[in-house]
Amino acid sequence: MPVAYTHFARRSLLFMPGDSMKKIQKAASWEVDTVILDLEDGVAQNRKLEARTTVAEALQQLDFGPRERLVRLNHVSTGLPAVEIAATASWRPDGFIAPKAEDEADLRAVDRLLEDAERQLGLDVGVFRLFAMIETARGVMNLKEIARATTRLEGLIFGAEDLAGDIGAVRTSAAWEVFYARSAVVTAAAAYDLQAFDMVFPDFHDATGLEAESRFARQLGYTGKTCIHPNQTPIVNRAFSPTSEEIDRAQRLIQAFEAQQAAGAGAFTFEGKMVDMPMLVAARKVLARVK
Ligand code: COA
Ligand code: MG
Repeated sequence: MPVAYTHFARRSLLFMPGDSMKKIQKAASWEVDTVILDLEDGVAQNRKLEARTTVAEALQQLDFGPRERLVRLNHVSTGLPAVEIAATASWRPDGFIAPKAEDEADLRAVDRLLEDAERQLGLDVGVFRLFAMIETARGVMNLKEIARATTRLEGLIFGAEDLAGDIGAVRTSAAWEVFYARSAVVTAAAAYDLQAFDMVFPDFHDATGLEAESRFARQLGYTGKTCIHPNQTPIVNRAFSPTSEEIDRAQRLIQAFEAQQAAGAGAFTFEGKMVDMPMLVAARKVLARVK
């Protein structure tokens, strides 16, 4: 059974306020897989226009190196995405993020705007990638229809702070109050061949806490995590990269599995524990992530 990662593997995704050219300018010096130029909640209401202009200029003028460049739009109900896409699409960001996605209609609306922009610019329909943020109770309830809303969708981003506000939960460091949603997002992503990115860790002075939260997210199946400060991305990159011990063990397990299969055994003992097909699939996933 091949494990295909059809998309570029993102470990760290760093938000930067769209109205801060100072922060965006340094993006190319950070160890980060994806840069998110934010037009939504990281920008004050009276700075939305400024942010649109700044993000367009940044996309036009700055060299982000190999980093993926995404623009986070406002929710379709604000009426802003049409102008936001019009202002930025011609500078060719790699994709867009639809925040507070509640249902299929939310994503279809953004999908149509992107398709219009692609046609106007003479680009192939579907070149702009799309990501949906799941951060409302309705978004969690409608995960399946959101995940299947458009083929340009590449990933789901879990937003714990907005969700907590929406459901009336009190945020704690253990995060059990958002566990159901956090787990549902990663499960929906796996079901529909999407990547899943974990919530931000707001306390950017707490490296130990970030590391623990990242490790747990990876254990849940998340492939990356959103960040708010550049000192978080090296920690997140490390947490979401397989260690040399993990790679080594996966290789040994696959070898042993193949030898046992050839000898006619489906389940066998490997380093003191039972191993069968699901562990082989997990080992292959570890190696696929290395690529
Ligand atoms: N992206 C790019 N650069 C950033 C950054 C970010 N998210 N956060 C901080 N920096 C830069 C700062 O500009 C500063 O640069 P300098 O040394 O040249 O002055 C350096 O990194 C150190 O930053 P620091 O002084 O520790 O933090 P700050 O007080 O400047 O900013 C925040 C703190 C939280 C306001 C800032 O990290 C931030 O804006 N984060 C993103 C917030 C966001 O987008 N939220 C919405 C999504 S949840
Ligand atoms: Mg949010």
